[in-house]
Amino acid sequence: MRKSAKRIGILTGGGDCPGLNAVIRAIVKTAENDYDIEVVGFLDGYEGLIENRFRTIRLEDVSGLLARGGTILGTSNRADPFNFPVLQGEDYVYLDRSLQAIRNLESLGLDALIAIGGDGTMAASARMLEKGLPVVGVPKTIDNDLWGTDITFGFDSALSTATEAIDKIHTTAQSHHRIMIVETMGRYAGWLALGAGLAGGGDIILIPEIPYDIDSVVDQVRSRNSLGKNFSIVVVGEGARPQGGDMVVKRVVETSPDAVRLGGISNQLAAQLEGLTNLECRVTILGHLLRGGTPTAFDRILATRFGMEAVHMVARGEIGQIVVLQGSDLGSVPIRDVAGKQRKVTPDHPWIKTARSLGICLGNPTNVPLEEYLRN
Ligand code: F6P
Repeated sequence: MRKSAKRIGILTGGGDCPGLNAVIRAIVKTAENDYDIEVVGFLDGYEGLIENRFRTIRLEDVSGLLARGGTILGTSNRADPFNFPVLQGEDYVYLDRSLQAIRNLESLGLDALIAIGGDGTMAASARMLEKGLPVVGVPKTIDNDLWGTDITFGFDSALSTATEAIDKIHTTAQSHHRIMIVETMGRYAGWLALGAGLAGGGDIILIPEIPYDIDSVVDQVRSRNSLGKNFSIVVVGEGARPQGGDMVVKRVVETSPDAVRLGGISNQLAAQLEGLTNLECRVTILGHLLRGGTPTAFDRILATRFGMEAVHMVARGEIGQIVVLQGSDLGSVPIRDVAGKQRKVTPDHPWIKTARSLGICLGNPTNVPLEEYLRN
């Protein structure tokens, strides 16, 4: 250990997900039990650090947190310390509040900050690190798109919710002989749609990494019908798009560093499929349902391991690193390496191979190898 830490800060940033409270619990327990370190939680992500809004979290405060969804600290995805939105009159002005954030940390006598978040939080943390903020990262997101870690906590819980939803959609699809489209979140990565499609028995899975050819989707529906299967389940990621077409933007949140919010591709797809197949389509957009609820056992363990390790990293002086899972082992990589990168589904990923062998349509023509289709 370098200089022994006595007080550390934590914050949860970006979109929430199941497991955030489990990390908070693990940090507080490890900090108090192993090092006698006091934990101060900033409210609403970097917003709380900038505005000096915080609460001390002690052992007695974390009872019952392991299974609770959301985050007791609150979160925000509009709090870029370098471009912080402040309402002046009716308009927002954007101010650099990074030094204020560092001053607040120092004035509370905090030796380090553990930032729990996704790519937006890590991008901000990488810049804050350069400014002198002693930060350690913990990766979260239901999207599973953070570079450097094999998995983020929150993903398994969201996957489980999506799978349960698809199971329920299956029965009504069969009864009504319909094409049922289930849209998942996941932004520019298809992990959620692909995983839920595999786990839920989807017949067609469309992900952002493979722009779909609508005729191939129609062929799959028709070929199922010719086998007497007069319903189809389509699982589509919110970032999916037709070949030569665009992603569907649901809204633009101007005060957010990553302003674009995706959603609604399934409605476009439903209209197209109804026209081309003469079959009835219905759409279910799972949306924020995927971010709610209690974490799965897998996520509880992962979040707990991440939280514990982050405290050990602070104690070992491993500032500027983010804890990651590589295989089944914990490790760490520099936060600056993670910032600005995305981990996407690759054509050679085992889940893609599995889907292909099972005859699931991934949006490419069956007679064209996926790699070749993606090259053209
Ligand atoms: O990154 C998590 C996520 O849930 C994405 O899957 C989704 O695109 C986005 O956040 C939604 O953001 P918001 O909560 O601002 O609508």
